[in-house]
Amino acid sequence: MPDLDRHTNPLVPTMVKVVKIIEETPDVKTFYVTTDEGIPFKVMPGQLAMVSQLPVGEGMFSVSWQAEDHLQFAIKRVGLLTEALHEIEPGQTLGIRGPYGNGFPVDECKGKDMLFIGGGIGLAPLRSFIKYCFAHREDYGKITILYGARSYADLCFKKELFEEWPQVPNCEVFVTIDNPEEGWDGHVGFVPAYLEEINPSPQGTIAVTCGPPIMIKFVLQALEKMGFTDDQVITTLEMRMKCGIGKCGRCNIGSEFICLDGPVFTLAQLKKLPPEW
Ligand code: FES
Repeated sequence: MPDLDRHTNPLVPTMVKVVKIIEETPDVKTFYVTTDEGIPFKVMPGQLAMVSQLPVGEGMFSVSWQAEDHLQFAIKRVGLLTEALHEIEPGQTLGIRGPYGNGFPVDECKGKDMLFIGGGIGLAPLRSFIKYCFAHREDYGKITILYGARSYADLCFKKELFEEWPQVPNCEVFVTIDNPEEGWDGHVGFVPAYLEEINPSPQGTIAVTCGPPIMIKFVLQALEKMGFTDDQVITTLEMRMKCGIGKCGRCNIGSEFICLDGPVFTLAQLKKLPPEW
């Protein structure tokens, strides 16, 4: 008889109810989930959880925020499982297990200026750290957020980006879209080029970046040019994960398992691994 007790079998999910769904972009929705007893488990910014919808399957997603009474996942429609997730309605149930991964080094970053650089759905994991910094505002210095997407429609979390975050003391928000479009009078261009334009000081600053691999590649080059050391740069890797508990071998790079040792790494740590990331 298989062990179906979630307290003794880490692969057994907790059932959660979807209480709210926000359509962020044409292909990204944020799901608010909870149980009758409140959040299924506590997560730190940058940690992950396995979300399952039977009989379609399960997938690993970063938790984009842990509120007092629910967890939020921003999920992009990219394949079978995410297609199915995008079809669900509030009131339906999902399975969830976790939390997985190391999360962002929120304590080590205390006292630093924070520079967040995101592209597309890459803002979802960064958002958990950004909101954590806001919730502990006195622990962090200046907060700079640079975010870009293909078009205005593709920008996630618009209300926070344009209305809420710019109101936070000592916080600057820069938003860009790839190409000009009617009705947009903000910045146009790619994130790495805008980063060089903004030219933030590396002095006492930690840069945290997440987005498409091509953006990350050029962001890392730009940060290096500006004088950021490898220890001052943090990123979070999105790899295909299956078990989440270091058993299936799907997520390793060299000797590191992304689900256990990551997904958050400094650039200094990544440079010691085989160049598969
Ligand atoms: S997801 Fe199975 S080992 Fe990491």
